[in-house]
This record gives sequence, C-alpha cells and structure tokens, in this order.
Amino acid sequence: MALFQSINESSQPRRGRRLSRVARRRCLIWTFLLSTMSLIYLSFVGSALLHSSLQEKLNGEVSLYEIIKKKSGNFDDRIDADKHAFDGSQIFNNGTSESTTSHQTIIQIVKISKDKSHKKHGPCEVSFTKSVEYLLHPENYMNFTKFSLDYVLQEQHYSNNSMLQPKFGGHQTLEERENSYYARNETLHCGFVKGPEGYPSAGFDVNEKDKEYMARCRVAVSSCIFGSSDFLRRPKSKLIGTYSKKNVCFLMFLDELTMRKLSLEGQVPDDEGYIGLWKIVLVKKLPYTDMRKTGKVPKFLSHRLFPSAWYSIWIDSKMRLQTDPMLILEYFLWRKKSEYAISNHYDRHCVWEEVDQNKRLNKYNHSAIDEQFQFYQSDGLVKFNESDSSAPLPSYVPEGSFIVRAHTPMSNLFSCLWFNEVDRFTSRDQLSFAYTFLKLRRMNPGKPFFLNMFKDCERRAMAKIFHHRVENTSSPGTSTIL
Ligand SMILES: *[C@@H]1O[C@H](CO)[C@@H](O)[C@H](O)[C@H]1NC(C)=O
Ligand SMILES: *[C@@H]1O[C@H](CO)[C@@H](O)[C@H](O)[C@H]1NC(C)=O
Ligand SMILES: *[C@@H]1O[C@H](CO)[C@@H](O)[C@H](O)[C@H]1NC(C)=O
Ligand SMILES: *[C@@H]1O[C@H](CO)[C@@H](O)[C@H](O)[C@H]1NC(C)=O
Ligand SMILES: *[C@@H]1O[C@H](CO)[C@@H](O)[C@H](O)[C@H]1NC(C)=O
Ligand SMILES: *[C@@H]1O[C@H](CO)[C@@H](O)[C@H](O)[C@H]1NC(C)=O
Ligand SMILES: *[C@@H]1O[C@H](CO)[C@@H](O)[C@H](O)[C@H]1NC(C)=O
Repeated sequence: MALFQSINESSQPRRGRRLSRVARRRCLIWTFLLSTMSLIYLSFVGSALLHSSLQEKLNGEVSLYEIIKKKSGNFDDRIDADKHAFDGSQIFNNGTSESTTSHQTIIQIVKISKDKSHKKHGPCEVSFTKSVEYLLHPENYMNFTKFSLDYVLQEQHYSNNSMLQPKFGGHQTLEERENSYYARNETLHCGFVKGPEGYPSAGFDVNEKDKEYMARCRVAVSSCIFGSSDFLRRPKSKLIGTYSKKNVCFLMFLDELTMRKLSLEGQVPDDEGYIGLWKIVLVKKLPYTDMRKTGKVPKFLSHRLFPSAWYSIWIDSKMRLQTDPMLILEYFLWRKKSEYAISNHYDRHCVWEEVDQNKRLNKYNHSAIDEQFQFYQSDGLVKFNESDSSAPLPSYVPEGSFIVRAHTPMSNLFSCLWFNEVDRFTSRDQLSFAYTFLKLRRMNPGKPFFLNMFKDCERRAMAKIFHHRVENTSSPGTSTIL
C-alpha cells in the first residue's frame, strides 16, 4: 500500500490531490468488496470442485489434482481426499479394525514442490490416493495365473564332480533353463542353492533372528548397500503413515564393510537393530565378488527372502523413499490391476542402444556383454519398434531401481528367471529384462503376466534420487565402473 501511495502521489498534480484521495478511497472500498466476493465465490466453487472430484475419484479414475489444474490453472497446493471404504474385505486389518466401519472422509491439503525448474528428467504428478487408513484390497484383484513353484534348495547332480564348487545360483543347465520358463507347477533354480552335505554355505547368510523377522513380513520394502557404495538414505518418516510404520517391514541389507563404514560415520543401529525406519540386516558371506551381482539377490529375490509376503517394494540405495508404501501398492498394482510394476528407462528403449551405452561407459566386460547379447538375439530378441502400438511393452529397457511386486506365481517366476539371467550372464539387468519378459510370454500363450511398466517421472515422484558414494577403488568388486 505504501508503495502504491508514494508512486501515486508523486505522479499526481498538487491540485487534484484532494479529489484523487476521495476517488482512491472509493476505489479501495470497491477493491475490498470485490475481493471479499471473489473469496466467497472461490470457497464455494472450491468445495463443489472437491465434491465432484471426490465422486470421480470414487469412480476410480481422475485425480483431484488434475481436475483442479484443469479448471483453475495455477493452484500451488494439491488438495486431495481419500477414498471411502469400499464394501469388501480389508486384507491387512482383516475387518477387525475400527477403520473399516468408518465411512468418514478425510481431506488433506498437501503442499507440492514449489520448484518450478523444468528439468529434463524431473518427477511428475502421481495421483496417489490420500490416507492409507481406509485402503482396501480390491476384491477382484487376485485373479492371476495360478500354479505353484518350488525352488532348488540343494543340488545333487554335480556332487561327484569335484571340479564344481557350490554356487549361490546353482549350476542350472541350459535344458533346465529352457524348461523353467513354462508357467506351470515346477521346481526351478532361484538362488539360495546349497552345496552338497559338508560344503560351506553358498552365501547370503543372515542370522536366524533376522530370518524369523523377515519370515513374518506381509509387506516388505527393502534395499541394500554392499561394498559401501552408497550412503544410508532413510525413508522420509513424516511421509510414511502410522499404518505402514506398524505393518510394513523396512529392510536394509548391509555387508560388514558398509556396516563398519556407516558406524564410523555415526550411523549405528539401535538396540532393536533399527536406523530410522530401516531394520538393518547384516549379510555375511556375499555370494559374488561383484557387488552389483550381489545386489541383485535382494533386488530380485524378495519372494525368497520374505516367504510370507504378499507384496514387496524394492528401492535402490541411491534413492530415498518419500511416499507411503501402501499408497504405492494401491496406485501401481491394485489400481492398474497388475502384479509387477517397474519403470521404463528415461532415455533408452531398445536393448541395442543399451548395449552400446554399457560399452561406451565401460559398465561391464565387453566380451561378456557380447556373449549375452548374441545369445539373446539367437533366441529371438528383436529391436524395440517404437511405432508399433501393439508392442508388448512400452520400452524394452527398464530403470530397475524401483520395483513394486505382488508375490503371485507369475511375478515370482519372472523374478526367478530374471535373476537366473543375471547369475548366468552379466549383472546388467537392463540387458536381460525384455528378453526374459518376451520369452516368458512367448512360451506361455494364454497365461497372462500383468506387468505395469510405468513412467520414469513417476519413479522420481516417489523417491528422491542421489548420487552414489564416490568410488573406493580398493574395495572389493568395484573393479568395473558402476
Ligand atoms: C481374518 O481373521 C479371522 C480370525 O482372525 C480368520 O479366521 C480369517 O481367515 C481371516 N481372513 C483373512 C482373509 O485373512
Ligand atoms: C478371472 O480371469 C478369468 C480369465 O482371465 C475371467 O474369465 C474371470 O472372469 C476373472 N474373474 C474375476 C473374478 O475377475
Ligand atoms: C555319485 O556317486 C555315487 C556313489 O559315490 C553314485 O551312487 C552316484 O550314482 C554318482 N552320481 C553320479 C551323477 O555320477
Ligand atoms: C499344481 O500344484 C497345486 C498346488 O500344489 C495343485 O493343487 C495342482 O493340482 C497342481 N497342478 C498340476 C497340473 O499338477
Ligand atoms: C571378460 O569376459 C570374458 C567372457 O565371459 C572372460 O573370458 C574374461 O575373462 C573376462 N575378462 C575379465 C577381465 O574379467
Ligand atoms: C514397426 O511397427 C509398425 C507398425 O506396426 C510396422 O508397420 C513396421 O513395419 C514395424 N517395423 C519393424 C522394423 O518391424
Ligand atoms: C576403501 O576400502 C578399503 C578396504 O576395502 C578401506 O581400507 C579404505 O579405508 C577405504 N577408503 C575409503 C576412502 O573409504
């Protein structure tokens, strides 16, 4: 106001001052009246908006944020409302909690990032539902391909061959590999293969107490740091609801080197073994000298590590989780009726490009990459066809740092198959993803696998991405560039 006056006064001729003051006062009154009216109007329209969009939300489609954006353009705050409780059984609370009977609606106002800098690869809005307290498991969700899997626990057929050492992934023959792709009752290799009697463990040893803890998890969020390659990023606690804090396991697998390094930096687990929300689990005897291969064990084999879990979320240690895991399950699995969700790569869609990039950046031994790539081409891998609208995937190259999974037979089978490719060939899982998926589909016509390949910007909305810790060239397994 002071600014307005001084500019106004200096620009007014002296004689017109009195008159202009009166005019200004009138003007002020009108301004006041107008703004009051528009405020009243806005609050009215706002609540109407909220109601209509809530209705749409209940119909399961449009996010409130989108509606507000469409109608008014520049809202800075996201207003979101949770769902009513549907009729149906609540899977986690099992109908015993008071929350199922409540049909109350909670409205929350959430500030979204003010950072308007349009980076090339930034996060985008994800229309998560609000408040997990009333989340219900959709009744018709679990209608997936049914069969049962058993896993090779101990290998016998090479026990007379003293040349073969026990391997964590086992010694799968090419014939066994081929058969393992059929989605049917079967016993297949899926890591954790013990050697014959008398042989030492093949690795990934976890103490019994932690094993018991892991066996009880129904929903697991997990991550790992091996070879001290990353800092410990705790999930953003205030964005994780009390329901998830009580019912979801947050597991961070560390090796001894990382544990030591973190404790030197003052990150020491409390008496119960937690650092923040992470339950720290020490892994002894890493199964591979390549840390990146070892990292694929918790990444792919969550259904082995958490045998009772219905759902799991994998998050790379370079990322900090900033979304409630239940909202993630609702959005990426239940709402999309999918059993496996992974993001596409922000840039590359074709395995051919990925191979070039891996070589250019020296990500892995070139001849090992070639060997794998040639094998895949001889078994039918073709280039990604961007203009083919009926392509089985939106991209053949994933960005696998964030994976959301229902532990259904098909999803578990895919996880095992993908792991076996990494075990047999290189640890570069972007190279084997499309091949594994396409082969699985090809060999199982009529048995669908519901994979949701989501956008990279959605991954960035769920978690904040950091750089890896600076390479320590003397630590084991980092002889190749990460
Ligand atoms: C719910 O809990 C009851 C009793 O605790 C149990 O009998 C029932 O099987 C449970 N239902 C589900 C879907 O877990
Ligand atoms: C389950 O899927 C089958 C075939 O995919 C379909 O015929 C059936 O109607 C589905 N059941 C439910 C409850 O959605
Ligand atoms: C391994 O040796 C045992 C006896 O030592 C023999 O009975 C068995 O047939 C052998 N297995 C193979 C695969 O050669
Ligand atoms: C597959 O295994 C399930 C459970 O173990 C069993 O009920 C089913 O009959 C088996 N199917 C076949 C074709 O053997
Ligand atoms: C690279 O891979 C090839 C083929 O797998 C292997 O023979 C060779 O020893 C590897 N080289 C290094 C330096 O690891
Ligand atoms: C890619 O897909 C389009 C549309 O289906 C098709 O016309 C074209 O021939 C395909 N290109 C290749 C190289 O397969
Ligand atoms: C690198 O790792 C070695 C052990 O592998 C350790 O002795 C050394 O202190 C580490 N250096 C840094 C800078 O972390």
